[in-house]
Amino acid sequence: MKQMLVLSQEHTKLAKAEIDALTAKQNKLYEYIAISDSNKQLQNRLAYTRFYYKLLFICEEDDLKQKIKDFDWNKYYKHSFCIRKFGKSRVKELELADLVWERLNNPAADLKNPKTRFDFYFTKDKVICGLFISKARTDFKKRMPRLRPGIHPSTMKPKLAAALINLTGINKGVIYDPMCGTGGIIIEAAAMNLNVIGSDIDELMLKQAEKNIKHYNFKAKLFKQDAVKIKKAYNYIVTDLPYGKNTKTLDQKKFYSEFLKQLKKILKIRAVIVFPDFIKHKSLIKRANLKLKQEYTYYLHRTMSRTICVIEP
Ligand SMILES: C[S@@+](CC[C@H](N)C(=O)[O-])C[C@H]1O[C@@H](n2cnc3c(N)ncnc32)[C@H](O)[C@@H]1O
Repeated sequence: MKQMLVLSQEHTKLAKAEIDALTAKQNKLYEYIAISDSNKQLQNRLAYTRFYYKLLFICEEDDLKQKIKDFDWNKYYKHSFCIRKFGKSRVKELELADLVWERLNNPAADLKNPKTRFDFYFTKDKVICGLFISKARTDFKKRMPRLRPGIHPSTMKPKLAAALINLTGINKGVIYDPMCGTGGIIIEAAAMNLNVIGSDIDELMLKQAEKNIKHYNFKAKLFKQDAVKIKKAYNYIVTDLPYGKNTKTLDQKKFYSEFLKQLKKILKIRAVIVFPDFIKHKSLIKRANLKLKQEYTYYLHRTMSRTICVIEP
């Protein structure tokens, strides 16, 4: 049975890219709803997916009433049900509920605590109907930067960090952040039961990262390392490049360029690297002889954004 994933409209492209990377295929997208025939458990991994469903059917709005009449609702119905309608349509929620009710053997409606929820999404082209499974992950909340003992203003928010990790497509194994700061990325990798390695040039940052990792009872291998001198090879690398308003752009470009050249030598499968938006990342990546596979713009606030790059050796 296909999975139906309702994506956050906060960043639909990033949400879809997470699913494609974890299922290792291009899944179908209807506006903000992704359909996947992968049977992989995605609920504990995805960051920007809001709701999880089993797909029941997809049809044209003109064919909907007939489709409801023909569909075997009893196969999915348990104890009680309710219907929810999302998106614009002339068809009313109550009308949909009546039509499904007529097809059920022993219907009982329960709007508060239904055991079965059939949801109808009206997108521009199609009507997509799913059996509700679960809501989005809520564990990010307890790891928001202000709740961690080791704090730093440039740390990354948990949801974005988790999405970056997912973009590598990693199932299991090691995530390495060579500029881990206070640990925004490695904390989320540990929360997803991945093995975690973090390094930074700044010992104070490493101490804060260690405090944070311990605070959540996670494990990580942490050590001091200049990112442009890494020798060991890694399958998956995720990092948020340092950007200092006080650092000269030229120095910064030189550092990024040196890091990318080193990345070319040590990267085995895939890296997700976050650049500040004022840097011409494409030419730097090309010069390092790395392949830029995907890129996404992420708006931190009105005047500041980042470019997320998925890179392969
Ligand atoms: C944007 S911060 C990383 C924030 C981190 N992702 C987090 O969520 O806390 C960049 C980090 O790069 C580190 N850094 C700067 N130059 C470095 C170098 N040459 N080698 C390793 N780390 C470096 C800084 O100390 C800083 O902690």
